[in-house]
Amino acid sequence: ATYKVGYFVGSLSSTSINRELSKALIRLAPEDLEFAEIPIGDLPLYNRDLDTAYPPEAMALKEAIHQSQAILFVTPEYNRSIPGALKNAIDWASRPWGQNAFDHIPAAVIGASIGQIGTALAQQTLRNVLSFCNARQMTAPEAYIQYTPELFPGDGAVTDPATASFLSAYMSEFREHIIRVLQVLPREAR
Ligand code: FNR
Repeated sequence: ATYKVGYFVGSLSSTSINRELSKALIRLAPEDLEFAEIPIGDLPLYNRDLDTAYPPEAMALKEAIHQSQAILFVTPEYNRSIPGALKNAIDWASRPWGQNAFDHIPAAVIGASIGQIGTALAQQTLRNVLSFCNARQMTAPEAYIQYTPELFPGDGAVTDPATASFLSAYMSEFREHIIRVLQVLPREAR
């Protein structure tokens, strides 16, 4: 069996270091994890007036989450929190009331920053949000990645073997977490 993992990159930048991290994670992940990015850049701003008439971008977002058996969040830290674009996407996905796409879904959070604390505060904020959304989060290991161009030279390569093996272990643990959650809460790709 393979497991479908939808992933969010919290940055809209064309040169995002978090997209770079996502490429590395995909390269280092177990072979039976299949990845599809869930884009967030074209979503309008969430407005509950639209709960009865979701725009196509938001319908596509919810459908992409339903097609996933697990969700990976790869996000930068903006002003010690998560980027507005990512929060906006989560808000869309969580609504209308009673149709929260994240309910019981296996999830993991990770992020890269140029700063030394490696998105720790953004990840903690994101965990609060995902708790309320009732996602089944992997709580350990945590991964706070300090990006340097030497460490991530491009195309998902990771030059430092210790970092590569840490990221690979993180993805193996995520796979175990997904399997454990799905055993209790089977979630077909819907
Ligand atoms: C940042 N950056 C940043 N870094 C950090 O470690 N903690 C922070 O609170 C912030 N705040 C912040 C706010 C805003 C608006 C920007 C644009 C940037 C720096 C950030 O780590 C850096 O720009 C990364 O390159 C952002 O990730 P992406 O967009 O390259 O994936």
